[in-house]
Amino acid sequence: MLKVREAVRNLPTYHPPLGGRQGLRLDFNENTVGCSPRVLARLRQLTAEEIACYPERDSVEAIVASHLGIESGEMLLTNGVDEAIHLLCETFLQAGDEALIVVPTFAMYEISAAATGARVVAVPAEKNFRFPTHDLLAQVTTGTRLVAIANPNNPTGGVVDPGDLVEIARQVPQAAILIDEAYFEFYGKTALPQWRELQNIFVARTFSKAYGMAGLRIGVLAGNAAHMPMVRRVASPYNVNGVALACLPTALEDENYVREYVAQVRQGRDELGREFANWEIPYWPSQANFVLASFGQLKDPFVRAMRARGILVRDRSRDRGCTNCVRITLGTTGHTARLLGSLRETLTEIGVKQAAAK
Ligand SMILES: Cc1ncc(COP(=O)(O)O)c(C=O)c1O
Repeated sequence: MLKVREAVRNLPTYHPPLGGRQGLRLDFNENTVGCSPRVLARLRQLTAEEIACYPERDSVEAIVASHLGIESGEMLLTNGVDEAIHLLCETFLQAGDEALIVVPTFAMYEISAAATGARVVAVPAEKNFRFPTHDLLAQVTTGTRLVAIANPNNPTGGVVDPGDLVEIARQVPQAAILIDEAYFEFYGKTALPQWRELQNIFVARTFSKAYGMAGLRIGVLAGNAAHMPMVRRVASPYNVNGVALACLPTALEDENYVREYVAQVRQGRDELGREFANWEIPYWPSQANFVLASFGQLKDPFVRAMRARGILVRDRSRDRGCTNCVRITLGTTGHTARLLGSLRETLTEIGVKQAAAK
């Protein structure tokens, strides 16, 4: 066996439970009905010639930049936000540096940062997963080179006060501040315009969630024009595949599709919250397309009984502070109705009583 870099030998492995996902998939925060039919039509029109060519990113980047209201030089299309995280770590971190994350959060920040040999400092969230701005700032050192923040956060659905994001960017000018807005569409608030005053802010967006294109792997990293050329140096010129590039302009054109989907998810989120309240199941208000709830000792029977009804939900027990918590993705109105029906049956079956019946 070859000698593997120490940082890589010590990496935690991330094994998303992707096998055997038959049923209504409410376990990965995907769009439950997939991409817009117009995107699918564009995909079906692809020619052999288009597939034969190396993908050209520039023209699509111009379209995406204009959609975001920024310049092409202020962004880069990436192979999902996963790659955006990786590229930021490769650009700004080296062995001995420090990366700050707040836990629980998305697993890839720790993996990509640790792979560079940097030390990852995990700051625990406050009570009820409130963002620990004060504790985070207390961990900053001269070696802090990256702060990664998911806003809304996964798996909690919580958000950071916009003023706190600005405060962090100001107080840690030596670090790249990644604001991961993978769930932006379900929340509606962005830190995007702020890097013109705060040059160290980077914003990541994805087409995997609201746009229903997770299988195509496409996302955006936006940042100050002074920094983005450095990030580009690390990226392959063909990091985004030609199929994704061909489909993206169509996805952006079909604004109604995303708007209507997001409206259904938001409504479903409220309904699920009310349902949890009826059964006195603790849950955390979410600004994303999922809700985290605590099932106590009934967590395993709950996940099993939902699966038996053909609904996949995600056990998040291994995340910090999430013992016995399950994360449930919201989808279309029809899927929410099916979710709620199965949820009621399951809770009754495993012996939970409605609050009114107690
Ligand atoms: C906060 C967060 N960032 C990024 C991602 C990955 O996004 P992409 O599919 O664009 O790589 C996810 C996926 O679950 C996520 O929850």
